Amino acid sequence: MEKTETLAADDAGVARAAHLLAGGRLVAFPTETVYGLGGDARQDATVARIFAAKGRPRFNPLIVHLPSVAAAEAVAVFDDRARAVAAAFWPGPLTLVLPLRPEAGISPLVTAGLPTVAIRVPAHPVARALLTAFGGPVAAPSANPSGKVSPTRAAHVLAGLSGRIAAVVDGGPSAVGVESTILGLAGAARLLRPGGVPAEALEALLGQALPAGGDEARPNAPGQLASHYAPGAMVRLNARAAETGEILVGYGPVKGDLTLSADGDLVEAAANLFHILREADALAGPQGRIAFAPVPDTGLGRAITDRLRRAAAPR
Ligand code: TXA
Ligand code: MG
Repeated sequence: MEKTETLAADDAGVARAAHLLAGGRLVAFPTETVYGLGGDARQDATVARIFAAKGRPRFNPLIVHLPSVAAAEAVAVFDDRARAVAAAFWPGPLTLVLPLRPEAGISPLVTAGLPTVAIRVPAHPVARALLTAFGGPVAAPSANPSGKVSPTRAAHVLAGLSGRIAAVVDGGPSAVGVESTILGLAGAARLLRPGGVPAEALEALLGQALPAGGDEARPNAPGQLASHYAPGAMVRLNARAAETGEILVGYGPVKGDLTLSADGDLVEAAANLFHILREADALAGPQGRIAFAPVPDTGLGRAITDRLRRAAAPR
């Protein structure tokens, strides 16, 4: 166990966090999607400690976070499609899987030995300040124990990882609230994970439909495991009303004990999602049950329903 520092999102806090990263330590930091568990992507031992801190059963590849498109181009090979998408959506909640530049010095643990790398330029000002101050590539999965709900506040990070990481930078609640969209561009364009950038927006820019990538039998993204993002309670979907003993999470016209968005606003619902999953889990208690009202399966709603289906999957 180590004592986990909580750092303010000011110059001193960011400088301290950058210093810890340079020393090979693990620092959780805010992004606009969810909090990331960051470590220097060039240090093998640091990357191994990321997996250990999360208790990840397998070495799934991680996303490398960079402060700018120029820094990203030093790590991965961009073609015209990747440049167009990066120009349109970075900084932001989008991750690109592209051919790795071997000379970038990224630890093979980050890429799980693949010839491709997942990279992202986040928009959150604290993430950008930290990446700029550190000046190197930061590998960061979501800052939660493996298989648990992703954190959208510093308190969530501490609840899961206190004593296992050097520090968390408290940058307030994450505005987007679901993880980045992952777009595979190492070959034919594929949607590897729905997320904060609506797939429709990528399809419009690329001028083509995006087939879903990945394979449930051999998932290369843990977000593709059927049961993931699991709260302690059992989860039921498409509920119009609570059954006896259930905590109902409403949306729009379906009122609940809690609501993702009373106005039926998908942006608000995404930002609330993981926080509400935790709240509902606490209200339901051990052996409890949570029911979710239907959420439209379009735009950001696709990412929300994807996460809810995994939370509800048999386990
Ligand atoms: O919003 C996010 O993306 C957050 C914040 C912290 O940036 N990060 C995040 O990381 O969700 P993580 O580790 O929970 O999910 C990263 C996903 C994994 O599902 C991983 O398998 C996939 O990216 N991935 C990484 N490298 C890949 C590669 N070379 N090919 C295919 N998938 C890859
Ligand atoms: Mg995750």
